[in-house]
Amino acid sequence: MLTLGIETSCDETAIAVINEKEEILANIVTSSIPLHKKFGGIIPEIACRFHVEYIGHCLEEALKKAGISLKDIDLIAVTYGPGLVGALLVGISFAKSLSWSLKRPLIGVNHLKAHIYAALMEHKIIKFPVIGLIISGGHTCLVYVLDIEHFQLLGQTRDDACGEAFDKVAKILGLGYPGGPMVEKRARLGKRQKVKFPRTYLDTQSLDFSFSGVKTAVLYYIRDNFKNNPNRQEVNDICASFQESVIEVLADKALAACQKRKIHRLVVGGGVSANSRLREYFLQRSSLGKVEVYFPCLNLSLDNAVMVAGLGQKLYKKGKVSKFNLTAEPNLGIK
Ligand code: KG4
Ligand code: ZN
Repeated sequence: MLTLGIETSCDETAIAVINEKEEILANIVTSSIPLHKKFGGIIPEIACRFHVEYIGHCLEEALKKAGISLKDIDLIAVTYGPGLVGALLVGISFAKSLSWSLKRPLIGVNHLKAHIYAALMEHKIIKFPVIGLIISGGHTCLVYVLDIEHFQLLGQTRDDACGEAFDKVAKILGLGYPGGPMVEKRARLGKRQKVKFPRTYLDTQSLDFSFSGVKTAVLYYIRDNFKNNPNRQEVNDICASFQESVIEVLADKALAACQKRKIHRLVVGGGVSANSRLREYFLQRSSLGKVEVYFPCLNLSLDNAVMVAGLGQKLYKKGKVSKFNLTAEPNLGIK
């Protein structure tokens, strides 16, 4: 069985092919990020037009890489939400045309669940139930995963997503977009204890998050402490201190969710899970608390179509299939 995955929820146009054993035959990702850079964030119209222009090329490239032709595909999996509505519609329309013309089944995939599935693909030994932490540019959610079909939301951000906080702090510091990788790079050269930025826990029992406070704290710290812009080392220290405050809250809440639900397996996914300090910190903390923590391999942490193909194939094997009235759900959550 060969599954084609299609991902166009935001700024990456991605197509992948996997086989029955979930081996990756092709993983093509192209990004419109260079076109958004000068605006300091994603411009939806530019992202949509980029998908329209590149999706066909990505498919050709993926088939070539996998050494197959279109008729060899058995299933078409596509992200149907959450994301930018126009961007999602490009992928969905493309998937429907392929499904219709090839007479192959179609399956819609939730992008957030696919981020968790990326880690499950990497670590096939993981037993359910698990606690999942999704940390991306648009979402920060803690979920209880009973099995691959049943997810329950335990907590989510009340304001900025943590990836968004990284992006906004990078913007304040003039580091460019996307901010996460730049903040991580500069943080490696900085002192984590230099500035004690606030850790926002909300009420003690809550598994919700809030990251807008720490972002504003960075803004005020710069305003109050520097007549001119901070120098190179000072920027490094701010990045390291900010990053540490976000990571500590994420780890505390995720481990609290494990404790509450008496589950010893934590699965982390989404773009921010690519952060190496976050991985190191989670592994240190989880070993103390006797929780096993699992991450996707680095190239499956960021948006990709392999995780979409993987989850789509798994759901299809459980008897799930989508109809042709599948449509974009830009605000799709965990349900
Ligand atoms: O999952 P993703 O690729 O796209 C969404 O579904 O949003 O996540 C993108 C987010 C961006 O906010 C980006 O700045 C952040 O992930 N990110 C990182 C790192 N790499 C990407 N944040 C912190 N450290 C990183 N190394
Ligand atoms: Zn994502």
